[in-house]
Amino acid sequence: MEKIKEAAEFIKSKINDDIDLVIVLGSGLSDLADIASDCIEIDYKDIPNFPVSTVVGHAGKLIYGKIGDVKTLMMKGRIHHYEGYDMKEVTFPMRVFGYLGIKKVILTNAAGAVNESFNPGDIAIITDHINLGMRNPLIGKNYDEFGPRFPDMSNVYKKEFRDKVKLVADSLGLKVQEGVYTYLTGPNYETPSEVKMVRILGGDMVGMSTVPEALVARHMGMDILGLSCITNMAAGILDKPLDHKEVLEVSERVKNDMMKLTEAIIKEIGK
Ligand code: HPA
Repeated sequence: MEKIKEAAEFIKSKINDDIDLVIVLGSGLSDLADIASDCIEIDYKDIPNFPVSTVVGHAGKLIYGKIGDVKTLMMKGRIHHYEGYDMKEVTFPMRVFGYLGIKKVILTNAAGAVNESFNPGDIAIITDHINLGMRNPLIGKNYDEFGPRFPDMSNVYKKEFRDKVKLVADSLGLKVQEGVYTYLTGPNYETPSEVKMVRILGGDMVGMSTVPEALVARHMGMDILGLSCITNMAAGILDKPLDHKEVLEVSERVKNDMMKLTEAIIKEIGK
Protein backbone atom coordinates (compact mmCIF):
# COMPACT_ATOMS: atom_id res chain seq x y z
CA MET A 1 0.00 0.00 0.00
CA GLU A 2 2.86 2.39 0.84
CA LYS A 3 4.46 1.62 -2.54
CA ILE A 4 1.19 2.37 -4.34
CA LYS A 5 0.81 5.68 -2.47
CA GLU A 6 4.36 6.69 -3.25
CA ALA A 7 3.96 6.00 -7.00
CA ALA A 8 0.57 7.78 -7.04
CA GLU A 9 1.96 10.87 -5.28
CA PHE A 10 4.80 11.06 -7.80
CA ILE A 11 2.41 10.86 -10.77
CA LYS A 12 0.11 13.44 -9.16
CA SER A 13 3.00 15.82 -8.66
CA LYS A 14 3.85 15.61 -12.37
CA ILE A 15 0.33 15.84 -13.76
CA ASN A 16 -1.39 18.07 -11.27
CA ASP A 17 -4.82 17.72 -12.89
CA ASP A 18 -7.80 15.34 -13.01
CA ILE A 19 -7.64 12.17 -15.08
CA ASP A 20 -10.88 11.07 -16.77
CA LEU A 21 -9.70 7.82 -18.25
CA VAL A 22 -6.70 5.55 -18.54
CA ILE A 23 -5.91 3.45 -21.60
CA VAL A 24 -3.41 0.62 -21.73
CA LEU A 25 -1.95 0.59 -25.22
CA GLY A 26 -1.35 -2.89 -26.62
CA SER A 27 0.70 -3.71 -29.69
CA GLY A 28 -0.31 -1.45 -32.56
CA LEU A 29 -1.82 1.33 -30.50
CA SER A 30 1.29 2.85 -29.06
CA ASP A 31 1.08 5.81 -31.47
CA LEU A 32 -2.24 6.89 -29.97
CA ALA A 33 -0.23 9.22 -27.84
CA ASP A 34 0.49 11.23 -30.99
CA ILE A 35 -3.14 12.38 -31.27
CA ALA A 36 -3.22 13.74 -27.73
CA SER A 37 -2.41 17.37 -27.11
CA ASP A 38 -0.64 19.16 -24.25
CA CYS A 39 1.22 15.99 -23.35
CA ILE A 40 3.18 15.26 -20.21
CA GLU A 41 5.44 12.20 -20.38
CA ILE A 42 6.67 10.22 -17.41
CA ASP A 43 9.14 7.33 -17.84
CA TYR A 44 8.22 4.25 -15.82
CA LYS A 45 11.78 4.14 -14.57
CA ASP A 46 11.32 7.52 -12.84
CA ILE A 47 8.15 6.45 -11.00
CA PRO A 48 8.92 4.96 -7.59
CA ASN A 49 8.22 1.20 -7.46
CA PHE A 50 6.92 1.01 -11.06
CA PRO A 51 7.88 -2.10 -13.04
CA VAL A 52 9.57 -1.62 -16.43
CA SER A 53 8.37 -3.46 -19.56
CA THR A 54 10.97 -5.51 -21.43
CA VAL A 55 9.16 -6.65 -24.60
CA VAL A 56 10.40 -5.44 -27.98
CA GLY A 57 7.78 -3.05 -29.39
CA HIS A 58 6.63 -1.94 -25.94
CA ALA A 59 7.94 1.39 -24.63
CA GLY A 60 7.76 2.28 -20.96
CA LYS A 61 6.01 5.60 -20.51
CA LEU A 62 2.91 7.15 -19.06
CA ILE A 63 1.66 9.89 -21.31
CA TYR A 64 -0.96 12.31 -20.11
CA GLY A 65 -2.78 14.46 -22.63
CA LYS A 66 -6.10 15.65 -23.93
CA ILE A 67 -8.01 13.70 -26.57
CA GLY A 68 -10.83 16.08 -27.42
CA ASP A 69 -11.88 17.26 -23.95
CA VAL A 70 -10.99 14.01 -22.31
CA LYS A 71 -8.07 14.10 -19.91
CA THR A 72 -6.45 10.82 -20.83
CA LEU A 73 -3.62 8.89 -19.27
CA MET A 74 -1.97 6.48 -21.69
CA MET A 75 0.10 3.55 -20.57
CA LYS A 76 2.57 2.98 -23.38
CA GLY A 77 4.24 -0.31 -22.62
CA ARG A 78 2.47 -2.99 -20.68
CA ILE A 79 3.93 -5.30 -18.06
CA HIS A 80 3.40 -9.01 -18.72
CA HIS A 81 3.57 -11.93 -16.31
CA TYR A 82 5.68 -13.89 -18.82
CA GLU A 83 8.46 -11.32 -18.49
CA GLY A 84 9.01 -12.67 -15.00
CA TYR A 85 6.94 -10.15 -13.05
CA ASP A 86 4.52 -11.62 -10.56
CA MET A 87 0.83 -10.83 -10.68
CA LYS A 88 1.15 -8.03 -8.10
CA GLU A 89 3.85 -6.34 -10.16
CA VAL A 90 1.89 -6.77 -13.40
CA THR A 91 -1.11 -5.06 -11.85
CA PHE A 92 0.79 -2.48 -9.79
CA PRO A 93 0.14 0.30 -12.35
CA MET A 94 -3.62 -0.46 -12.30
CA ARG A 95 -3.62 -0.27 -8.49
CA VAL A 96 -1.94 3.11 -8.75
CA PHE A 97 -4.51 4.30 -11.32
CA GLY A 98 -7.33 3.18 -9.02
CA TYR A 99 -5.68 4.90 -6.08
CA LEU A 100 -5.50 8.09 -8.18
CA GLY A 101 -9.28 7.92 -8.48
CA ILE A 102 -9.46 7.09 -12.20
CA LYS A 103 -12.87 5.53 -12.86
CA LYS A 104 -12.65 4.37 -16.48
CA VAL A 105 -10.14 2.11 -18.16
CA ILE A 106 -9.67 0.90 -21.71
CA LEU A 107 -7.57 -2.24 -22.07
CA THR A 108 -6.27 -3.03 -25.55
CA ASN A 109 -4.30 -6.00 -26.76
CA ALA A 110 -3.24 -8.15 -29.68
CA ALA A 111 -4.93 -11.54 -29.74
CA GLY A 112 -5.11 -14.71 -31.75
CA ALA A 113 -8.50 -15.72 -33.16
CA VAL A 114 -9.92 -19.00 -31.90
CA ASN A 115 -13.29 -18.23 -33.48
CA GLU A 116 -12.86 -19.21 -37.10
CA SER A 117 -15.27 -16.55 -38.33
CA PHE A 118 -12.76 -13.88 -37.26
CA ASN A 119 -9.94 -12.74 -39.54
CA PRO A 120 -6.50 -11.27 -38.95
CA GLY A 121 -6.95 -7.51 -39.01
CA ASP A 122 -10.36 -7.58 -37.26
CA ILE A 123 -11.04 -5.53 -34.17
CA ALA A 124 -12.99 -7.36 -31.46
CA ILE A 125 -14.85 -6.00 -28.44
CA ILE A 126 -14.15 -8.14 -25.39
CA THR A 127 -17.49 -9.25 -23.95
CA ASP A 128 -16.07 -11.35 -21.11
CA HIS A 129 -12.96 -13.33 -20.26
CA ILE A 130 -11.78 -16.74 -19.15
CA ASN A 131 -8.75 -16.84 -16.89
CA LEU A 132 -6.71 -19.87 -17.91
CA GLY A 133 -3.55 -18.26 -16.56
CA MET A 134 -4.22 -20.12 -13.32
CA ARG A 135 -2.83 -17.04 -11.58
CA ASN A 136 -4.78 -14.33 -9.82
CA PRO A 137 -3.52 -10.90 -8.73
CA LEU A 138 -6.24 -10.69 -6.06
CA ILE A 139 -4.74 -13.54 -4.03
CA GLY A 140 -3.25 -12.37 -0.74
CA LYS A 141 -4.29 -9.79 1.83
CA ASN A 142 -7.36 -7.88 0.71
CA TYR A 143 -7.26 -4.13 1.13
CA ASP A 144 -10.90 -3.31 1.84
CA GLU A 145 -10.33 0.32 0.85
CA PHE A 146 -9.69 -0.96 -2.69
CA GLY A 147 -12.53 -3.45 -2.95
CA PRO A 148 -14.21 -6.53 -1.48
CA ARG A 149 -12.55 -9.85 -0.66
CA PHE A 150 -14.86 -11.68 -3.07
CA PRO A 151 -15.50 -9.27 -5.92
CA ASP A 152 -18.33 -9.84 -8.38
CA MET A 153 -17.19 -10.49 -11.97
CA SER A 154 -20.64 -10.66 -13.62
CA ASN A 155 -19.95 -7.58 -15.74
CA VAL A 156 -16.22 -7.09 -16.11
CA TYR A 157 -16.52 -5.33 -19.47
CA LYS A 158 -19.21 -2.67 -19.18
CA LYS A 159 -22.20 -3.27 -21.43
CA GLU A 160 -22.81 0.43 -22.00
CA PHE A 161 -19.22 0.88 -23.25
CA ARG A 162 -19.55 -2.14 -25.56
CA ASP A 163 -22.78 -0.79 -27.04
CA LYS A 164 -21.14 2.59 -27.60
CA VAL A 165 -18.22 1.00 -29.44
CA LYS A 166 -20.69 -0.62 -31.83
CA LEU A 167 -22.38 2.72 -32.50
CA VAL A 168 -19.09 4.54 -32.94
CA ALA A 169 -17.72 1.79 -35.22
CA ASP A 170 -20.88 1.98 -37.34
CA SER A 171 -20.54 5.71 -37.70
CA LEU A 172 -16.93 5.28 -38.81
CA GLY A 173 -17.85 2.48 -41.23
CA LEU A 174 -15.73 -0.02 -39.29
CA LYS A 175 -16.77 -3.60 -38.70
CA VAL A 176 -16.15 -4.96 -35.20
CA GLN A 177 -16.37 -8.48 -33.84
CA GLU A 178 -17.31 -9.42 -30.28
CA GLY A 179 -15.97 -12.27 -28.23
CA VAL A 180 -14.65 -13.87 -25.09
CA TYR A 181 -10.95 -13.26 -24.44
CA THR A 182 -9.08 -16.17 -22.94
CA TYR A 183 -5.91 -15.51 -20.99
CA LEU A 184 -2.99 -17.89 -20.96
CA THR A 185 0.32 -16.80 -19.51
CA GLY A 186 2.47 -17.39 -22.60
CA PRO A 187 5.20 -16.69 -23.60
CA ASN A 188 4.79 -19.59 -26.01
CA TYR A 189 1.85 -19.51 -28.38
CA GLU A 190 -0.73 -22.20 -27.69
CA THR A 191 -0.67 -25.72 -29.08
CA PRO A 192 -3.46 -26.63 -31.51
CA SER A 193 -4.98 -28.80 -28.76
CA GLU A 194 -4.99 -25.88 -26.33
CA VAL A 195 -6.72 -23.76 -28.96
CA LYS A 196 -9.32 -26.49 -29.42
CA MET A 197 -9.79 -26.59 -25.63
CA VAL A 198 -10.31 -22.81 -25.54
CA ARG A 199 -12.93 -23.10 -28.29
CA ILE A 200 -14.77 -25.87 -26.41
CA LEU A 201 -14.69 -23.72 -23.27
CA GLY A 202 -16.30 -20.81 -25.10
CA GLY A 203 -13.31 -18.60 -25.88
CA ASP A 204 -13.17 -16.60 -29.11
CA MET A 205 -9.67 -15.23 -28.81
CA VAL A 206 -6.47 -15.99 -26.91
CA GLY A 207 -3.88 -13.64 -25.51
CA MET A 208 -1.23 -13.11 -22.88
CA SER A 209 -2.39 -9.93 -21.16
CA THR A 210 -5.40 -7.87 -20.07
CA VAL A 211 -7.06 -10.31 -17.63
CA PRO A 212 -4.79 -9.57 -14.64
CA GLU A 213 -5.37 -5.82 -15.13
CA ALA A 214 -9.11 -6.32 -15.66
CA LEU A 215 -9.42 -8.30 -12.40
CA VAL A 216 -7.68 -5.59 -10.41
CA ALA A 217 -9.52 -2.72 -12.12
CA ARG A 218 -12.88 -4.38 -11.52
CA HIS A 219 -11.91 -5.15 -7.92
CA MET A 220 -11.55 -1.40 -7.46
CA GLY A 221 -14.90 -0.74 -9.15
CA MET A 222 -13.45 0.78 -12.32
CA ASP A 223 -15.53 0.57 -15.52
CA ILE A 224 -13.71 -1.35 -18.23
CA LEU A 225 -13.72 -1.48 -21.99
CA GLY A 226 -11.60 -4.18 -23.64
CA LEU A 227 -10.58 -4.18 -27.30
CA SER A 228 -8.56 -6.82 -29.12
CA CYS A 229 -6.75 -6.43 -32.38
CA ILE A 230 -6.90 -9.86 -34.04
CA THR A 231 -3.38 -10.32 -35.37
CA ASN A 232 -3.49 -13.98 -36.39
CA MET A 233 -5.55 -17.12 -36.43
CA ALA A 234 -4.66 -19.12 -33.31
CA ALA A 235 -2.37 -22.13 -33.63
CA GLY A 236 -3.56 -25.10 -35.68
CA ILE A 237 -6.27 -23.22 -37.60
CA LEU A 238 -4.06 -22.44 -40.57
CA ASP A 239 -1.29 -24.71 -41.71
CA LYS A 240 1.56 -22.44 -40.70
CA PRO A 241 3.62 -21.64 -37.63
CA LEU A 242 2.97 -18.47 -35.58
CA ASP A 243 5.49 -15.69 -35.46
CA HIS A 244 5.71 -12.53 -33.34
CA LYS A 245 6.74 -10.66 -36.52
CA GLU A 246 3.34 -11.45 -38.04
CA VAL A 247 1.63 -10.17 -34.89
CA LEU A 248 3.54 -6.89 -35.16
CA GLU A 249 2.93 -6.59 -38.93
CA VAL A 250 -0.83 -7.10 -38.64
CA SER A 251 -1.15 -4.76 -35.68
CA GLU A 252 0.74 -2.18 -37.74
CA ARG A 253 -1.74 -2.73 -40.59
CA VAL A 254 -4.78 -2.31 -38.28
CA LYS A 255 -3.24 0.61 -36.46
CA ASN A 256 -5.09 3.34 -38.33
CA ASP A 257 -8.54 1.77 -37.84
CA MET A 258 -7.78 0.92 -34.24
CA MET A 259 -6.59 4.47 -33.55
CA LYS A 260 -9.60 6.03 -35.27
CA LEU A 261 -11.98 3.84 -33.28
CA THR A 262 -10.16 4.37 -30.00
CA GLU A 263 -9.97 8.13 -30.41
CA ALA A 264 -13.71 8.30 -31.14
CA ILE A 265 -14.62 6.00 -28.27
CA ILE A 266 -12.48 7.95 -25.81
CA LYS A 267 -14.36 11.11 -26.78
CA GLU A 268 -17.65 9.23 -26.38
CA ILE A 269 -17.13 7.54 -23.00
CA GLY A 270 -14.45 9.70 -21.42
CA LYS A 271 -16.72 12.46 -20.15
N1 HPA B 1 -1.91 -16.43 -28.79
C1 HPA B 1 -1.63 -15.74 -27.67
N2 HPA B 1 -1.37 -14.45 -27.66
C2 HPA B 1 -1.38 -13.79 -28.83
C3 HPA B 1 -1.67 -14.44 -30.04
C4 HPA B 1 -1.95 -15.83 -30.02
O1 HPA B 1 -2.22 -16.48 -31.05
N3 HPA B 1 -1.61 -13.48 -31.00
C5 HPA B 1 -1.31 -12.31 -30.40
N4 HPA B 1 -1.17 -12.49 -29.07
